[in-house]
Amino acid sequence: MSLQQPKVTVIGAGNVGATTAQRIAEKDIADVVLIDIVAGLATGKALDLSEAAPVEVHDRFIIGGNDYALSKDSDVIVITSGIARKPGMSRDDLLKTNAEIVSSVAKESLKHSPNAIFVVVSNPLDVMTHLTRKVTGLPANRVLGMAGVLDSARMRFFIAEALNVSVQDVLAFVLGGHGDSMVPLARCSSVAGIPITDLLPADKIEEINTRTRNGGIEIVNHLQTGSAFYAPASSSAEMVEAIVKDRKRVLPSCVQLNGEYGLKDIYVGVPVKIGSKGVEQILEIKLTDAEKAALHKSAEDVKINVEKLESMGF
Ligand code: LAC
Repeated sequence: MSLQQPKVTVIGAGNVGATTAQRIAEKDIADVVLIDIVAGLATGKALDLSEAAPVEVHDRFIIGGNDYALSKDSDVIVITSGIARKPGMSRDDLLKTNAEIVSSVAKESLKHSPNAIFVVVSNPLDVMTHLTRKVTGLPANRVLGMAGVLDSARMRFFIAEALNVSVQDVLAFVLGGHGDSMVPLARCSSVAGIPITDLLPADKIEEINTRTRNGGIEIVNHLQTGSAFYAPASSSAEMVEAIVKDRKRVLPSCVQLNGEYGLKDIYVGVPVKIGSKGVEQILEIKLTDAEKAALHKSAEDVKINVEKLESMGF
């Protein structure tokens, strides 16, 4: 059995990683390598997913193990490794443990796939994406983080639910870091092109914004033993598809800003054009003063954690 390009390696065979592998294969996006420090977990889940292929009807190969040599020459590396939140924990509580894990897997992956685009999913998301770029030394267009797609998917679902319309016609935009200060942008959210500000009263929109900001913890509180994985996996697979199919999708993603939005050298979520080169363009939309202040506050929160990480020697 030999894997073909496009080839995507997912690091971490936990719930997010394994479900991302499933989405990528079952949506016929790419062949997948699943890597985990616990070899049997990756091998077992890859085999289980392969055995689902005849029923799901796809011919994508999925292999798993703990040897990074399997990942050789991947087009995309998705990093999901790390510990997930438990009730009472913020994403930032994961900082040190996940920094150790993410920096080691990023360096190891790069050795085998020097041309890959890196999509980071581990939390705290913006900081882990920053760290991945730092330890790999890659140009910023090749390291991006998944969060905006997830946060806006949640917002889209809440809007569709409130209006009793199909999710298909709902678009939503969330800016900023993947944390409590993320910025849901009702003004740029619509149903079939109609701004939601024309369709929903202000208090309902505020309720949706708050639920979007708390989308992650709402799931953690239900699950008790871990965090969300179906929607994070779908969102990661959508970004991977945009890269391997050179789709030029415009998706909110965590990228390094270089003066855009008045921010520099910081990873934060903004609208981005994604294609085979990774980040192909950062779209700078005109923000109101309040929106700009909220984005800067969110970036400031990311910066505090980046500095914390640096003080720990990363
Ligand atoms: C969430 C976690 C994965 O938002 O960050 O569900």
